[in-house]
Amino acid sequence: MNLHELNKIANQMTATGTGILAADESSGTIQKRFDAINLTSTADKRRDWREMLFRTEPAMSNYIGGVILFDETLRQSSDDGTKLVELINAAGAVPGIKVDAGAQNMAGFGGEKVTAGLDGLRERMAEYYELGARFAKWRAVIEIDQQRPSSACVTANNHALARYAAICQEAQIVPIVEPEVLMDGDHCANRCSEVTMATLKSLFTELHNQGVELEGVILKPNMIVSGKKCSSQACVEEVAEKTVAVLKASVPAAVPGIAFLSGGQSDIDATAHLNAMNAGYDLPWNVTFSYGRALQAAPLAAWNGNDTAAGQAAFAHRAKMNGLATKGEWNMSLEG
Ligand code: 13P
Repeated sequence: MNLHELNKIANQMTATGTGILAADESSGTIQKRFDAINLTSTADKRRDWREMLFRTEPAMSNYIGGVILFDETLRQSSDDGTKLVELINAAGAVPGIKVDAGAQNMAGFGGEKVTAGLDGLRERMAEYYELGARFAKWRAVIEIDQQRPSSACVTANNHALARYAAICQEAQIVPIVEPEVLMDGDHCANRCSEVTMATLKSLFTELHNQGVELEGVILKPNMIVSGKKCSSQACVEEVAEKTVAVLKASVPAAVPGIAFLSGGQSDIDATAHLNAMNAGYDLPWNVTFSYGRALQAAPLAAWNGNDTAAGQAAFAHRAKMNGLATKGEWNMSLEG
């Protein structure tokens, strides 16, 4: 493993002013997104949608440091024969690949989930490197309710994340480790804070035990927000304060970048929260976005299946707003 090179890539992907576009929806998930515009998901439509995003210039070059792809997209070419991976490289962004096989029910734990995909991963990783991927993503999901999460669920997921991360680094691929504490439910922000803290502490223990080098890792966490159904919603300043407090207490400064998921926040909330952290706090890591829905919901509606100009304008706007938020330079009046 060349740790210096992994660290350089992780820093490039999360450099201030830029962040990550999560365009790695599985075939099932992208159909759910396309349902919003009544579009049937076909390989060509998925390609058209993503190609439209990757060709959005100068926004891609200015604000996007990395793009997470699904297996299919890593192998796809545009109409003119250019590999989609080449479009991403041409924009100066790093192509990456989602490698987990999704969250499965955990035996004996009544519906709690553990993420699958370690079998054969070492072999797949070598192929992904050949296809141009320089980073990977693995997502674990942790649910909150009165009994959940169990410590067994947190430990099993973090153990898998650590084994995945070790396999990535061996293959000279930067692992994004994503332990997502879901915002579904009626819990308050303090409960999210407690669960996220315990999850991240356990994650870094597992990463240490598996010999993962933190300088060559990107953390993709949730922010500390109130459950969607909670009657009292934490305001922007509270979200920033609680999130920074949890990260400072659990994430070593050796980690080069923290890139948040949006997890069902509105696109403006996701931008406002990121901005408040970067504007108000002195942070030892690059702190940026790795948004799926919060970057794509507006352009998807504008594109509506075929309007490239409208889709690209909407994507350029959200990418710019989030780029500003990584510098703490965003404010609501810029939303127009
Ligand atoms: P969201 O920002 O829509 O949560 O997606 C990010 C992601 O990559 C989830 O794994």
